[in-house]
Amino acid sequence: MGCAVIGCGNAIPDLEIDNDQMSLLVDTSDEWISSRTGIKTRHVALNESSLDLSEEAARKALGWDDGGYSERSIDPEEIDLIITATLTGDVLVPSNAALLRRKLGLKNAICFDLNAACSGFVYALNVAESMIAASATASNRSPIRRALVVAVERPSRITNWADRNTCVLLGDGAGAVVLEYDENRAGILSTFLANEDDIHNALTCPTPLDVVPPFDADGVNTAQDIIDESHAAIDEMVEIEESLAEGNPRNVLRMNGQRVFKFSARAMKQAITEVCERAHVSLDDIALIVPHQANERIIDFGARHMGISKDLFKLSIEHRGNTSAASVPMALADAYNEGQIKKGDKVIVVAFGGGFTIGAALYEA
Ligand code: UT7
Repeated sequence: MGCAVIGCGNAIPDLEIDNDQMSLLVDTSDEWISSRTGIKTRHVALNESSLDLSEEAARKALGWDDGGYSERSIDPEEIDLIITATLTGDVLVPSNAALLRRKLGLKNAICFDLNAACSGFVYALNVAESMIAASATASNRSPIRRALVVAVERPSRITNWADRNTCVLLGDGAGAVVLEYDENRAGILSTFLANEDDIHNALTCPTPLDVVPPFDADGVNTAQDIIDESHAAIDEMVEIEESLAEGNPRNVLRMNGQRVFKFSARAMKQAITEVCERAHVSLDDIALIVPHQANERIIDFGARHMGISKDLFKLSIEHRGNTSAASVPMALADAYNEGQIKKGDKVIVVAFGGGFTIGAALYEA
């Protein structure tokens, strides 16, 4: 008995930007981006919200719309849980999952968002599977038989478009899967989650929360202090505007690429090895590995160090870029759509990213 993947879909924003267009923004070239990352184009959500992208991916995974993989059309009442992995929801409250519940009429679902940076989808998959498994064996819990796990990202909203170290890498999009508890299927065979401290702050993005609370160590601040504070805030706003005008926005992603590269390459190998060992499955028995699409060279490195063919890895970075948490379910949907996953195949999903976070799951399709 297990927790099976019964649907998968993705959503790709309309606007596609190629590397030559990026070279109009920053000092870069198609040659540099292609050879260092494997990226040729990325998509930017100009007219699509995070909710729009989530909805499109979810409808395909639920079997309501064409363009995804779905074993059957799921009734809205059948979904008991929605988890969205995202850093870039449209609003903080309600959560993206709550907005999706309303939009799709999934009236029996409990829902929440989760932030584990680029590993968010794999963390959400783990949480959903754990909640389903726990409720299957205990009567003192909310019954959860089916879950919709969505990852949506619009990194274009937290990108410094004047920083060539990061802006050429990122892309927007969404992916979704439906998980179902099934007594007669193996489903998810093993999972692995781990964190390491990012002691050098190699991958960061400041919070957009910037209200100054009207308090000091003695309690409520005096009116004069508040006025001073508000003058200071205005000065600060002017500074921010000037900084923005110079192409230096504040709440944007910053990355020390080499440090993150070293961590990512090591983490991917560790996570794949762990899920195989935990499931007592040899790498020879794996049909497909769907990794976080951060850089094709990380996958080259992983394949070389594990002594396996690069063909075992699903690659979709070329026309997507790094879509953060959304990259794994987007690539997984591609793999289903392209007939690369058949019933009974053993598949690994694996991700790594800010935090640092590492996660993987091995399942039987
Ligand atoms: O999703 C979360 C996980 N993310 C990752 O795993 C990403 C991991 N890191 C990477 O993928 C790579 O480190 C990058 C693609 C970000 C960078 O590649 P790199 O081979 O590590 O390049 P680098 O940072 O060592 O930079 C080499 C040179 C530098 O110039 P100098 O100092 O040698 O003159 C950079 O300034 O390349 C320069 N550079 C660029 N040149 C043209 C950096 N970005 C660009 C660019 N175009 N876009």
